[in-house]
Amino acid sequence: MKSPGSFETIAYANGVVTMLDQRFLPHKEIYNQYTHAAEVAEAISTMVIRGAPAIGVAAAYGVALAAFRGAREEPARFHLVVEEAASLLAATRPTAVNLFWAIEKMRRILAECASSAPQATAERLLEQARAIHSEDLELCHRIGAFGQALVPDGATVLTHCNAGALATAGHGTALGVIRSAVAAGKRVQVIADETRPFLQGARLTAWELARDGIEVSVVADGAAAWLLKRHRADLVIVGTDRVAANGDVANKIGTYGVALAARAAKVPFYVAAPWSTIDLSTPTGDDIVIEERPALEVTHVMGQRIVPEGVPVLNPAFDVTPHELVTALITDRGLVYPPFAEGLRAFA
Ligand code: MRU
Repeated sequence: MKSPGSFETIAYANGVVTMLDQRFLPHKEIYNQYTHAAEVAEAISTMVIRGAPAIGVAAAYGVALAAFRGAREEPARFHLVVEEAASLLAATRPTAVNLFWAIEKMRRILAECASSAPQATAERLLEQARAIHSEDLELCHRIGAFGQALVPDGATVLTHCNAGALATAGHGTALGVIRSAVAAGKRVQVIADETRPFLQGARLTAWELARDGIEVSVVADGAAAWLLKRHRADLVIVGTDRVAANGDVANKIGTYGVALAARAAKVPFYVAAPWSTIDLSTPTGDDIVIEERPALEVTHVMGQRIVPEGVPVLNPAFDVTPHELVTALITDRGLVYPPFAEGLRAFA
């Protein structure tokens, strides 16, 4: 999947999962190797890899690693070992539905293989993980193809967090739309919110777009509303971790504020998502579990404490944008406009 000069967010070869460690970007490009499901779970929890589709791919490979190890070391307990790994991986992050979607696909294969030999089951599980990985890249290109029609030539797009190649198997969802617009010959500029506290916008979105030669400026999160009011951006495109059945959208903390500001400024607010992020079993955004991350992410910047000792912090990692603020969903199956409940059901 890697082309010359590009990077791979995640790869699998010969029993080893390799991940680009996103905690060190943009300073260092470090690739970590994992051979145990527990290590993959740790990598997801600690944000070595992040972004809804990417953590789904990682979890699928994690289950496959557990299966090969189980087939070799504990054939008598094989199904139990794989199920334990699936549960461990599912407990890493609660908000992005892609994680559970991918693990569910792996569990289905495990159930189908109830009477197969462990090694053969492990091979089937790896095949499924590889399929989840390669299909995600394909879906991102489809999202890009549908979404690029919404991006006028010469447009400035504001985005929040990182919904790019680093958050997916490649190309990206929100950034995939931008990449596809550029590939279609359009001139596009990007404004990337820095995205405190983990700085996915400043560190990751800026890194991958600059690498592709796409013009990108980073702004402090607090600047987004003002820039939208001043019409310095023509449209907003963000990714999402889960879309509820009514079209409510969970995404990185701060997205809701951007959506409110976009509505106030009459700027379209688009959300790009593969179908694996759409969760018709969750009725509304109120039913989505919002991850609380460690206080350290807020109290410290680059290892330096910025909040006085003893002062508590709140660190919700995601928020929910009510569907009323969403102009359209850009999915791999097409554009979905309000009313979203009907539109999503029609595409399902
Ligand atoms: O905490 P993160 O970095 O995993 O959050 C990522 C986001 O919120 C992305 O916008 C979302 O997962 C979509 S990625 C295509």
